[in-house]
Amino acid sequence: MSVFKKIKRVAKQALAIPTVRKTYETATRAVLDVGGSSRLGATIYSLPGFLTFNREQYAVLAGRRAYYKNFTKPRRSHVELRRNVHRLEKGLVMEPRRPVFARDYILETVEFYLEAVKGTDQISGIDPAELTWAHNVLEAYFEAVDHSDPVIARALEGYRSVSAPVDVVIDRHLSPYEHSEVSESDVSYDQLLALARRRRSVRWFEPRPVPRELLDRAMIVAREAPTACNREPFEFRFFDDPETVQKVANIAQGAGGYAHQIPTLAVVIGRLDYYFSPRDRHVPYIDASLAGMQFMLALETEGLSSSIINWPDFELLEAKMQRTLGLAPFERVVYLMAIGYPRSDGFIPSSVKKSVDVLRTYDAPTK
Ligand SMILES: Cc1cc2nc3c(=O)[nH]c(=O)nc-3n(C[C@H](O)[C@H](O)[C@H](O)COP(=O)(O)O)c2cc1C
Repeated sequence: MSVFKKIKRVAKQALAIPTVRKTYETATRAVLDVGGSSRLGATIYSLPGFLTFNREQYAVLAGRRAYYKNFTKPRRSHVELRRNVHRLEKGLVMEPRRPVFARDYILETVEFYLEAVKGTDQISGIDPAELTWAHNVLEAYFEAVDHSDPVIARALEGYRSVSAPVDVVIDRHLSPYEHSEVSESDVSYDQLLALARRRRSVRWFEPRPVPRELLDRAMIVAREAPTACNREPFEFRFFDDPETVQKVANIAQGAGGYAHQIPTLAVVIGRLDYYFSPRDRHVPYIDASLAGMQFMLALETEGLSSSIINWPDFELLEAKMQRTLGLAPFERVVYLMAIGYPRSDGFIPSSVKKSVDVLRTYDAPTK
């Protein structure tokens, strides 16, 4: 047993003694009365307790550093281009649409585009879907705006300096389109509710492998989730080799008692190298969670079940996971997910949900 596990066990045993627990709670309350009472208090707290948040601070800064360094590196996804193409699309759908817009970022967008085009002939070059999207949106932009504006004229000249790079045909809309073109869905409210109710956190699985094609099909649904500036700042890393699944699942601790029979494990990673500003530091966690929810529902339609496994921001575990998966400092684990065919005789906690009345308000007072 590791030293950490021994310490944890001793601490657990000690806290089971009421007087020890009460003393611990009193001390914690006293510390938090200082640390949690004001921003100054939080600053004082973080001096001796800096490790609590330091890994996150480092991840944010390392991510920002990598964001700028990546500009000239061949990559599958050029996040700076994605963001700006997204902004252009928002400008294109604006009502009323202005004859000149994006003046402050169109030149850099064309620069990003030209850089991305360079990478097309490399294995690690840009995803053709991304480049096609950028190309089509830029076409739509230059068609819509007033070329007599000198900035736009310069940007257009740069854009036209390379030929259309891709001949990939993707069966999707690749520049703004009218809502009337949105395909109908025959999923009713009741069907969606039934699917949502069918999904429960399942921890007991049949001992059979999960076909990777089914995971990929679920990923197709996952990637449709909303994501800030269409960045998709996450990766799903799947493991289905039993030994690796156990090794990785056990780092998280939340799968204690059932890790040994998980057929497939996903480690969902948020990327902080997709942001130039710390103001967006929480976005990867949100985006990865939204995609994860769609992923889990898609699994259900394929007869598969899942359970999220918590990823605590805890220094020792973080260091171990970082080593095991070879993570960069800006790659943050958001959660793990156990995936498999549900064992029909495996029990599921009822996990009764809160009443809607408790979860929502309408017209709460504002100041
Ligand atoms: C962020 C998060 C962390 C979770 N961590 C764990 C975990 O470590 N171990 C586990 O068995 N279940 C975990 N769960 C599953 C929850 O216990 C479960 O979602 C909750 O009890 C509601 O039940 P339901 O998913 O069946 O609706 C987690 C769920 C979420 C969303």
